[in-house]
Amino acid sequence: MSASSFERASCQAPVRGRSGSQRPFQGSFLDYRRFVQRHYDGLAGALTALTGLLTGHEALAGRLIRPGGFDVRGCQRLLDAACGNGRYARFLVRRADADALVVAFDLSLNMLRRARRRVGSDRVRFAAADVTRLPYADGIFDAIVCGWVLEHLPDPRPGLRELARVSRPGGRLLLLTTEDTVAGRWCGRLWHCRTYRRSELRRIAEECGFEWERELWFSRLHAWLKLGGIVAQLRRR
Ligand SMILES: C[S@@+](CC[C@H](N)C(=O)[O-])C[C@H]1O[C@@H](n2cnc3c(N)ncnc32)[C@H](O)[C@@H]1O
Repeated sequence: MSASSFERASCQAPVRGRSGSQRPFQGSFLDYRRFVQRHYDGLAGALTALTGLLTGHEALAGRLIRPGGFDVRGCQRLLDAACGNGRYARFLVRRADADALVVAFDLSLNMLRRARRRVGSDRVRFAAADVTRLPYADGIFDAIVCGWVLEHLPDPRPGLRELARVSRPGGRLLLLTTEDTVAGRWCGRLWHCRTYRRSELRRIAEECGFEWERELWFSRLHAWLKLGGIVAQLRRR
């Protein structure tokens, strides 16, 4: 795909009110992607471990990836899509079978360096890649975690279709995204990303080949207060 057709495909973007709050950036998708890459390469990316500790997300990740939550036992190939500093990859390595392969990719090389350092396991294969154009074969992953990434796409479809393509039929996806709530919109301002409405994201994910299996919450308090963003377990049809 040429750069311009890729840009067009990725930029069939919903603007305010259709499937989320607003576009975080007025330029083209390629300009925005470069901006996101620099953002995470720099100080903002370096601070993600600290902000994860302050918001509790470092610890909460472990509450999701576990038997009874997003259970990865029995999975042979796992993918951490846009792994950031390796928060979820760390738990995938801990909770997956000892012989399972964990693959993690990100757009930002500095985030990959941070992830490699933090995960500290030779069971994880890291790669630089864009979620809308993955360098993996069709149907090879049994389980995928995609945390807080789709909000960096003006239109989630190219990313979701790629995740569906590399997932085996019946494979599971743990999807976490910023919700279109007051708190979510503040996060969107801080991290220069968009937000999603639950029902709309569900409809689009189903359109892209996933079944929306169940919604998860970090804790009972999160469920009660409807806080923490959209966290859902999906299954590849
Ligand atoms: C908020 S961080 C989340 C990181 C990690 N998944 C987590 O939950 O801790 C977003 C990450 O997505 C990456 N990213 C943004 N757009 C991307 C794209 N188009 N392809 C791949 N990675 C992307 C950024 O570089 C950053 O590391």
